[in-house]
Amino acid sequence: MRTKMAALVAVGLLTLGGTAACTDDDGDGAGSNGGGPRGGTGSGKVGVILPDTTTSQRWGTDDPKLLKAAFDAADVPLDIQNAQGDKAKFVQIAESMIASGVKVLMTVNLDPVSGKAVLAKAKAAGVKTIDYDRLTLNGGANYYVSFDNVAVGKLQGEGLVKCLAEKKAKLPLVADLNGSPTDNNATLFKAGYDAVLQQRYDDGSFLKGPDQSVTDWNNKEAGVVFAEMWQQTGKRIDAVLAANDGLGNAAIEVLKKDKKNGIVPVTGQDATIQGLQNILAGDQCMTVYKEIKKEAEAAADLAIKLYKGEKPDTKGVVVKDPESGAYVESVLLLPTAIDITNINKVIKDGFVEKKAVCAGRFAALCRENGIK
Ligand code: BGC
Repeated sequence: MRTKMAALVAVGLLTLGGTAACTDDDGDGAGSNGGGPRGGTGSGKVGVILPDTTTSQRWGTDDPKLLKAAFDAADVPLDIQNAQGDKAKFVQIAESMIASGVKVLMTVNLDPVSGKAVLAKAKAAGVKTIDYDRLTLNGGANYYVSFDNVAVGKLQGEGLVKCLAEKKAKLPLVADLNGSPTDNNATLFKAGYDAVLQQRYDDGSFLKGPDQSVTDWNNKEAGVVFAEMWQQTGKRIDAVLAANDGLGNAAIEVLKKDKKNGIVPVTGQDATIQGLQNILAGDQCMTVYKEIKKEAEAAADLAIKLYKGEKPDTKGVVVKDPESGAYVESVLLLPTAIDITNINKVIKDGFVEKKAVCAGRFAALCRENGIK
């Protein structure tokens, strides 16, 4: 009883203390309070925890902006924070959100252990949960919203095959720079591109080269890993399957030192400004555009229904958690491959601004390539 009272007092204090700051609780400019039901201990908010701001442009820029817009449009109060790559901080943020009375918690986990711990705490407090973009293995979230991540990997594999064909490469040695081994998405991306590349290894047209994962998608570590691959093969790598634009850029930086950028095709993902500029410069062969606006809107739609006590309809789409065997109600979106021929799509969609992509030395490249 005493604990319960103390908890209620804590909730009351947090609610009062949080009112002034609730438009931006973490001071990073990403917070939002749409102005729906607020105040009072029972009203709650929707809590969102994003993973970091260094492994992809999306987490610091695209997702917070698009999620905020979706919740604001429905006038549902939002507390959105970023764990800055720190698992302990991820858990701490979740604990304080749960203590402050969030009704729904949406997380992008940093690893299955901390991700699962947070989902268990939320469940114990009666908070509904959504795995956003990354499935928490054996986590038991109520819902999962993401892309068809095997399809993302397939586009990367096919993109690399196409770039090598355009370069008329003979028996190319292909290196894999995979995402974090603790991110289920990285496993799915790899399943997608391995399926494409394995056919080439089997028919003898490609050679399998070094294949390594990058801890926590750390871009700096990716540079070290790729530099080692490059040295160990006697600088003989002919193509790089990099799992996202950040890892791709790390490989490009290494290739630049030997003036092999643009000669060795490199893939990516996320249609980041850097990735698109690398494509314009001819250093990156493709990226994968995931319409994060749709992902954010789909997740917000589920969260808002749960917030209002309604049951969302995911139209029978389920994803099997490979660890627990449970089926998680899901929304899965389709990715698009982007290369030098269709960068305009990403700009037309408003995902990136032309002036950001075509800044400085990229202005001339944009003109040459008909970027509108
Ligand atoms: C996301 C990618 C992102 C990567 C690194 C993955 O889980 O799906 O979009 O590039 O994490 O942050």
